[in-house]
Amino acid sequence: MCGIVGIVGTEPVAGRLVEALTRLEYRGYDSAGVATVNEGVLERRRAEGKLFNLQKKLADEPLPGTTGIAHTRWATHGVPNETNAHPHFVEGVAVVHNGIIENFSELRDEMKAEGAVFTSQTDTEVVAHLLAKYTREGLSHRDAMLKMLNRVRGAYALVVLFQDDPNTLLGARSGPPLAIGFGKGETFLGSDAIALSPFTNQIAYMHDGDCAIITHKGAEIMDFAGNPVERPRQISQASAFLVDKGNHRHFMEKEIYEQPEVISHALGHYVDFANHTVNAETGLIDFTGVSRLAISACGTAYLAGLVGKYWFERYARLPVEIDVASEFRYREMPLSPDQAALFISQSGETADTLASLRYCKENGLKIGAVVNVKESTIARESDAVFPILAGPEIGVASTKAFTCQLTVLASLAIAAGRARGTITEAEEKELVRHLTEVPRIMSAVLNSIQGQIEQLSRDLSKVKDVLYIGRGTSFPLAMEGALKLKEISYIHAEGYAAGELKHGPIALIDENMPVIVIAPHDRFFEKTVSNMQEVAARGGKIIFITDAKGAAASNLPTMATIVLPEVDELIAPMVFSLPIQLLAYHTAVFMGTDVDQPRNLAKSVTVE
Ligand code: AGP
Repeated sequence: MCGIVGIVGTEPVAGRLVEALTRLEYRGYDSAGVATVNEGVLERRRAEGKLFNLQKKLADEPLPGTTGIAHTRWATHGVPNETNAHPHFVEGVAVVHNGIIENFSELRDEMKAEGAVFTSQTDTEVVAHLLAKYTREGLSHRDAMLKMLNRVRGAYALVVLFQDDPNTLLGARSGPPLAIGFGKGETFLGSDAIALSPFTNQIAYMHDGDCAIITHKGAEIMDFAGNPVERPRQISQASAFLVDKGNHRHFMEKEIYEQPEVISHALGHYVDFANHTVNAETGLIDFTGVSRLAISACGTAYLAGLVGKYWFERYARLPVEIDVASEFRYREMPLSPDQAALFISQSGETADTLASLRYCKENGLKIGAVVNVKESTIARESDAVFPILAGPEIGVASTKAFTCQLTVLASLAIAAGRARGTITEAEEKELVRHLTEVPRIMSAVLNSIQGQIEQLSRDLSKVKDVLYIGRGTSFPLAMEGALKLKEISYIHAEGYAAGELKHGPIALIDENMPVIVIAPHDRFFEKTVSNMQEVAARGGKIIFITDAKGAAASNLPTMATIVLPEVDELIAPMVFSLPIQLLAYHTAVFMGTDVDQPRNLAKSVTVE
């Protein structure tokens, strides 16, 4: 994940900016840079690799100036080198950026047609060009910023410094976090409170859709239409050594809200945003000659694999054999070297998953690891490692790792389909384009359903049993929803294929057991509505998670209907994960359980 810092200070800032960047190193990066304004001139130093290289450059060529911005870059668009490192300059405008600008390609073409010269491969540079253009046209910095914010689309955090206004920074947030720090005659911007902890503990967290004008006196915050908004100041407990909860009550809540940001970084590793294709990182396993793919994992990682099974079989026409690792390792499944295997594990240390990996390795299979910890045992013992780039996941209940696992598996399934000739280049572009929309759509959903979910969770916290049902990739999601609820609220919950209802579970239906129906308006929708009618006919209470089309198509009475955006079938599992994660989270909060450390559970099960 990228890191952003800005200071409107009263003394030289270059050293403090880099010090703040060192507190963001845990986010991962591949280059860094800093820019200041000194005597009306914007200057910058940038370096590939670790911060040490940037610090060396600053020692050789000091950077004066009391206002500046700095950035650690996690490459999404363009290779990690000095040219692509932030800050990006265009005609006296300096920009640092975290996240993705989805429509950068069309904006870049538009600007090039107007004579703009681009010097990097990054999406960020279009922001600097737009700001330079609008200020050239006579707009104030504030109005140029608001106009740019209404042109770009994506999930991003931005900080801007204008050469001709050295006492002001402008910040904006739409997805990845941005915090404001308040000092004595100095004001700060940073990706989180940890970065700002050396300077202040007085923090205000910007919300999605906030734009802030930062001066020595403090911050003026507004929405993207320019209407003033208020964000409360709070005392941060962040320190340089503790991954910080930000303005969330639990790590689980923070990690749910981090998903747009971390998914955009996972996407940056596996897809080309300009051409809407998968990239070489997805080709570490050649699926061309593979006769069958085995997938094995535990818990939530297993359920991500189950979603992946649908994708590999549908898009790559590749038969998939999947099982929970504790069974997989003892089944003595017939295996042969013309097969491949994927092992999915957030920690990369789960004992059963590791044992299954070793079983496949003994049988000569090509081994791939989809992991969040690149140095983990499972990664080390694999032929190919596919990092999910979710950043540290502290909450025992897995959330952002799950949707990042899905993101990687979708990219791999598309790559396998292209390698096996089962999807065309046009189909690849269409599928990858949908993937690139996920961060923005998830960001919008997170901003729209919170209140309704909290209200519903209050009712859910009073029940003893819950049934989740879904079809297609919503079936593994039903099981994931049940797992989330049971592991943090201790309410008994089961996830079932909706079509299985009449083969047993329907005997459970009564007014005391809510049935959560996960049903985007896809090709299974009508059949799922029939299942809902079976539930309603027996007095069952329905919580309906669907989209606008689905809500309009069903006139059944529900306990609640949660309406999400209409999305392509490929990305529905990522988007529909949000309500089931938030439902479990808020129910557990009402129940007063230990959300981040639920009873009897560990974050990594390194024993059988
Ligand atoms: C998920 O919410 C659970 N905490 C648990 O099922 C977890 O997914 C499982 O233990 C696998 O862990 P891993 O991904 O680190 O292998």
